[in-house]
Amino acid sequence: MSKELKSKKWFGEKNLEGFLHRSGMKAQGWPENMIKDKPMIGIANTFSEAVHCNSHLRILADHVKKGVIAAGATPIEFPVISLGEFFLSPTSMYLRNQMSIDIEEMIKGLPIDGVVILTGCDKTTPAAIMGAASANIPTIILPGGPSLKGNWKGEELGSCTDCRRYWNELRAGNISQEDYDSMEESIYRSPGFCMVSGTASTMACISEAMGMTLVGAATLPAVDSRRMALANRSGQQIVNLVKNNVKFENFLHRKNFINGIVTLMAMGGSTNAIIHLLAIAGRTKTKISLDDFNQISENTPVLANLKPAGSKLMEDFHYAGGVSALLKNIRHLLNIETESVSGEKLKDILDQSENFDQEVIRYPSNAVNDKGSIAILKGSLAPDGAVIKVAAASKKFLNHIGKAIVFDNAKELSDNIDDPNLDISEDSIIVLRNQGPIGGQGMPESGFLPIPKKLLDKGIRDIVRISDARMSGTAYGTIILHITPESYIGGPLSLVKTGDKIKLSLDNKTLDLLVDNKILSERKSSLKVTEHNSEYDRGYGWLYKEHILQADQGCDFDFLRAK
Ligand code: FES
Repeated sequence: MSKELKSKKWFGEKNLEGFLHRSGMKAQGWPENMIKDKPMIGIANTFSEAVHCNSHLRILADHVKKGVIAAGATPIEFPVISLGEFFLSPTSMYLRNQMSIDIEEMIKGLPIDGVVILTGCDKTTPAAIMGAASANIPTIILPGGPSLKGNWKGEELGSCTDCRRYWNELRAGNISQEDYDSMEESIYRSPGFCMVSGTASTMACISEAMGMTLVGAATLPAVDSRRMALANRSGQQIVNLVKNNVKFENFLHRKNFINGIVTLMAMGGSTNAIIHLLAIAGRTKTKISLDDFNQISENTPVLANLKPAGSKLMEDFHYAGGVSALLKNIRHLLNIETESVSGEKLKDILDQSENFDQEVIRYPSNAVNDKGSIAILKGSLAPDGAVIKVAAASKKFLNHIGKAIVFDNAKELSDNIDDPNLDISEDSIIVLRNQGPIGGQGMPESGFLPIPKKLLDKGIRDIVRISDARMSGTAYGTIILHITPESYIGGPLSLVKTGDKIKLSLDNKTLDLLVDNKILSERKSSLKVTEHNSEYDRGYGWLYKEHILQADQGCDFDFLRAK
């Protein structure tokens, strides 16, 4: 085995380079017999104190190391860029591709034969998978797990679905500022990612369903002692993958992606996963398209009763049986011959799984939503697609015509949304533009547009909202996102004016601007040039603007896609 190891070139040669490489390991206390003729296993760690979701990963990395050593290999932990949703400007999405480059190049550049990548917060999992897909060595993804449930005044809270819900109640005057403030220390009670069916949970569950993690890795709470044992087993198993030369591409076939998309729909997961899955597929020879999402959504019931579409939290989901118990209920929709990094076939994993709480993991006869968790819309307002999370929307608006109220940017919206003179009703449609991949500098999660205070005061909690932004997976409402092409580059969203009628038809999967083509041509010719963003003049900003793709291609850089 050792002759074939990549690390052998670094540590096995009797020359000056070999001397330097071995002495670099010995400088850290590794003895000769742990350096020569052993597989070297990388542990790519996204620990960061700027990412509270990943703040426990140093501990987890230590347990991976124990597993690696127990299996007869030597661990080399290294840091990679970590992206958090809370502390990063302008958006974590702006830097997702940079993180994927970091991971790819570190995997390729270091003397490692396999790698365990520790992930957590929203962008860290897709960036890790994108980088690993391009590097293509034996790889296991180890998510950090969800945070404990929020607990406030006897109520279980999910972040940040309930922060948003109570924010609206605060604005409507139904709770006091003091009460709202007291929620700050009660919503996140441990490290770990947001404990609803948000982007981090969704991407972790998709990774598990695609076979990239050990069973239970997506849902086991971050601070559960069993997660440390799971980290240990991940460390042991990566050594087996190296011995058997099982590369990461083994989990990136179309059938794995199909399993991932079924999981996204069955858990009522985040719309962001669509962009990430398209980006991951773009790193491989596998073809998936927006049409695949619509088709699978049409056949897949929402069975995980998780916020924001349902009422429970990730901790409940794990105790009920997790991803494998969920998938067992829709076995007929899956490619059960696919393998996991554990070496087991999906069908064997499903056979061993059990549903311990049918209120949390439903059967199709008692689904949270019969089907169609997420829909892709196309039409004159979104020629290359738009996305709506049907499971978290109000049914009465899913086939709707309304008058647009247009805002050019986030500041204009926040300055005017609570104006008592705003001409808006429950049937209006709020439009926000310049929030796409380029216009919004990383497609911010600003699509959860606020409800005007005058409507909140009347008890209205949802109206149709449209933008080229993304939305946090923790958010909810009748919200249409990812309008492509984005307005900044002249997509039809740039032509909408206040008072125009917009038609949303979920039945037909369409989104149309009901304005005569002649008028639209006139508007196009008199379109104002969008404000220049000086961040794009140099450095990463320049690279980003020159090479970023639109949402229907996963917002990856064009030069990173597989040739
Ligand atoms: Fe990190 Fe939600 S803020 S997963």
